[in-house]
Amino acid sequence: MHSPLKLDIDHFLAHDWQRRPRLFKAALPEFDDPLSPDELAGLALEPHIESRRVWREQDRWQAETGPFESYDHLGENDWTLLVQAVNQWHPGVQDLAELFRFIPGWRFDDVMVSFSTPGGGVGPHIDQYGVFILQGAGSRRWRVGERQHLREFAAHGALRHCDEFEAVIDEVLQPGDMIYIPPGCPHEGYAETPAMNYSIGFRAPDARDLFSSFADHLLAHVDSTRRFDDAGMSAAAAHGRLDASVMDQVKTLMRELLDDDTRLNDWFGEMISEAKHDLDLETAEPVYSLEELVLRLDHGDHLYRLGGVRCFYHEGSADVFYLDGDRYQLAEPDADAIALLCDQARICGPEVACLKAPRNLLDCLLPLVNQGYWYFEEDE
Ligand code: SIN
Ligand code: CO
Repeated sequence: MHSPLKLDIDHFLAHDWQRRPRLFKAALPEFDDPLSPDELAGLALEPHIESRRVWREQDRWQAETGPFESYDHLGENDWTLLVQAVNQWHPGVQDLAELFRFIPGWRFDDVMVSFSTPGGGVGPHIDQYGVFILQGAGSRRWRVGERQHLREFAAHGALRHCDEFEAVIDEVLQPGDMIYIPPGCPHEGYAETPAMNYSIGFRAPDARDLFSSFADHLLAHVDSTRRFDDAGMSAAAAHGRLDASVMDQVKTLMRELLDDDTRLNDWFGEMISEAKHDLDLETAEPVYSLEELVLRLDHGDHLYRLGGVRCFYHEGSADVFYLDGDRYQLAEPDADAIALLCDQARICGPEVACLKAPRNLLDCLLPLVNQGYWYFEEDE
């Protein structure tokens, strides 16, 4: 399908991704906001949706978390409302994330949407996540620097800032313009007119988080592991010494766990497929029978994956996949069926009918549709 995103993907990935900030003027020409500031404020009313607002009062930064009922006391200027994971609540915003399908799905974090009044911004800061910031309605001046050594500090209990920085991008973004900010690059944006910004964010786990999550997985799934064993050792030559051979065995014990590919794959698949926030799951009412599911697909209705649902498989696996933190398995391996589930945002009838054993997929899909992970929406 032709993408409206004006970006030389191969060039961008080879030269800029994770490396340097970039400005893309008119990346989405004639961009139309998928939601209005009022709709965004509506989402920020919901206690289960993560929102923040940041403002300045006599040159002092202030920040608070939602839900928010009213903005009257904030006046006309110098404040920003930010709502996390709007793609989970708004299909039009999820469509923006789909423009970046050239980046593997597991790297995608969420789409944060902000509305800023003139002068509004969150101040100079550094994120550990990479982000594409797309300018919607209005205009906002963005400054972005290369990675540089900067002091970071709390400008407010809930707001981390960095020192002033040298910018390599300093531009007033207009609707449809976009900047790419790799992790670790300082940036700040202040609206010139009331402005909507869409931050399509990408995550990358660090080793500390990986170890901590793997340890949780072991504690939950493994009753006992091999224990240190020094049968046959010689008498201790130095009572207080930790021999190098002890450390060798400690490493071996730990490495054996990491070298168990099945365990490692299941842990990573389950962990990385967990949704960032509670999903907007709506159970089918009444639930579909297998016959009804087939009938709707045959009728030409498409099944859409709910925004925010993460669904992955390991390279080489044709039966196991991971969804929302759980492991699933097809009764019979079928790489095409796995690809339909995990590679696509939408499933349509003819694709299912073409599988070597459609029932193999449908048996797995039916309970997931009934739980709301996929939903039907007729095409106009
Ligand atoms: C925004 O204010 O829209 C984005 C905030 C950020 O830079 O992370
Ligand atoms: Co940022």
